[in-house]
Amino acid sequence: MGIDPRTAGFRSPRAEDYPELAGYSRADAYRDAMGGGGLYLAARMTRSMDLHPGDVVLDLGCGKGESSIFLASRFGVKVVAVDLWTEAAYLASKMAARGHRLDVVPLNLDATGRLPFADGYFDSVFCMNSLSFYGGSTDFLGHLLRHLKPDGVFLVGMETLNADFTPEQLAHPPAVYSYQLPGGGDVWEGDFLRMETPNWWERLFRESGLLDVVRFGELEDAAVLYEDLVLHNLEHGLEPEDTEHCIEQILWGRRNRPAKTLFALAARKKE
Ligand SMILES: C[S@@+](CC[C@H](N)C(=O)[O-])C[C@H]1O[C@@H](n2cnc3c(N)ncnc32)[C@H](O)[C@@H]1O
Repeated sequence: MGIDPRTAGFRSPRAEDYPELAGYSRADAYRDAMGGGGLYLAARMTRSMDLHPGDVVLDLGCGKGESSIFLASRFGVKVVAVDLWTEAAYLASKMAARGHRLDVVPLNLDATGRLPFADGYFDSVFCMNSLSFYGGSTDFLGHLLRHLKPDGVFLVGMETLNADFTPEQLAHPPAVYSYQLPGGGDVWEGDFLRMETPNWWERLFRESGLLDVVRFGELEDAAVLYEDLVLHNLEHGLEPEDTEHCIEQILWGRRNRPAKTLFALAARKKE
């Protein structure tokens, strides 16, 4: 099969921009990722924030646990890895196989329900590509952040869209964001229409009164990371239908808004 001319100019991130991932291959960075950015996003989320060896970190909505392994191995922190859809048994066997049985504790629970942790227990809470599923309200932030110590760090990173849809787009959804999934499910109604912009999230945190936002911004190489993920999927024959949609979204997003983006935010819990 020849090279797809649509992806001929697709780029990869510069290794020097991600020193945290020295020694990681592209396949390592996207292994078992359930959202955009993979460990590149995780690296950006942790950047310049003081995670110390021995800190206890909640990785909430950890998915298949790769970010938990990254946190434990890169920073020497202890991780409580919580997810709803991924069974604790899956995470436990992965952590044992990868040498993290003692520093990553897997749990299967719903973050909106009772959280079985002491108040102020965690030094940091890390939420990558997951908060949008359950946490877009001040009430939820209060519920979660009671378990973060005062002055503790809340690290959030997410794939989303960089602008709101216009009234015209709401009436006539862009085809790149409006299609049916093979197994059923409308991605416009279920996914893109529900996305909030990076600024919306920053305002939610700031106006909650619970947090001081200390760092916030879209990743300047977000488009590059989406292109890189497509190259990775094409190289390994992964998720062909989803990859086809991603290619069209990337090309459309070069000339139109809203485009897919990634952002990282760090905030400190107020005393
Ligand atoms: C898009 S995946 C991202 C997973 C992982 N952080 C990553 O980047 O690969 C979203 C994750 O949020 C988790 N999630 C959704 N609702 C949840 C809830 N109410 N409580 C805990 N986790 C939840 C899902 O189980 C899923 O693994």
